Amino acid sequence: MSYGLLKGKKGIIFGALNEQSIAWKVAERCHEEGAEFILSNAPIALRMGELNGLAEKTGSEVIGADATSVEDLEKLFDAAIAKFGKIDFILHSIGMSVNVRKGKHYTEMNYDWLEKGWDISAVSFHKVMRVAWEKDCMNEWGSILALTYIAAQRTFPDYNDMSDNKAYLESIARTFGNYWGERKVRVNTVSQSPTPTTAGSGVKGFGGFLGYAEDMSPLGNATALECADYCVTLFSDLTKKVTMQNLFHDGGFSSSGVTQKVISKYDVEK
Ligand code: NAI
Repeated sequence: MSYGLLKGKKGIIFGALNEQSIAWKVAERCHEEGAEFILSNAPIALRMGELNGLAEKTGSEVIGADATSVEDLEKLFDAAIAKFGKIDFILHSIGMSVNVRKGKHYTEMNYDWLEKGWDISAVSFHKVMRVAWEKDCMNEWGSILALTYIAAQRTFPDYNDMSDNKAYLESIARTFGNYWGERKVRVNTVSQSPTPTTAGSGVKGFGGFLGYAEDMSPLGNATALECADYCVTLFSDLTKKVTMQNLFHDGGFSSSGVTQKVISKYDVEK
């Protein structure tokens, strides 16, 4: 259902890789709600060509940018400014850990890989905001969002250095969010349930992760589409004073000590 919540709003959406991607669903929902945007991803991801279908469907332009390259980001933002003037929203939906990808155990961390993953998954959020800041291209009451995971606060085996990357990402949202306040722009992170996407499924034992989270969430895991709905509200004018927050979108997982479903699995006396 469409509510016209983003009518007239312009933005940049980073990180749609394929139909499973959270950013893909966000783009579809933003389009339905009346927004116009540029889709961006790393040049290597664009080579797969899947994004062109989404661009066509949403009437968007695709502009490649490695989110760790300030030069690429500057070109992207210049193109956005040429097309739209100032913009209203940015979605950072980017994550990758080389240590996770290559199955390197946390206790045996490869630090070169750590730096690459940290740059892609966390520092890139600072770079995106810095370029937007220097170009002064956000409209008042604009909204900047990044996606994160609860491994920033609690340990999850095999989430590896992504836990540390997410903690850093969330801190950047708060710290930069303070300065963006001067320009009446809000900055938040959405902490999403485990979701079957390319990045999500790359975590060892993801199936177990997903099932456990489902049983531990009174409302069940939040889907990518539900996450997109939530992002739409955070880009809309209905959430103007929400800033510097890490917002859990997880069916209640983050507040659950244990649920009856999980207790029942261990209650052998019954
Ligand atoms: P995805 O694999 O569809 O998206 C990750 C995106 O990051 C891809 O589009 C990839 O091309 C992009 N990317 C990687 N390196 C890049 C670079 N150097 N420059 C620009 N883009 C680059 O997976 P998903 O799950 O949609 O991930 C989106 C965000 O959601 C990530 O931040 C992820 O950590 C977060 N998240 C995912 C959860 C899950 O279980 N799937 C749970 C909570 C948060």
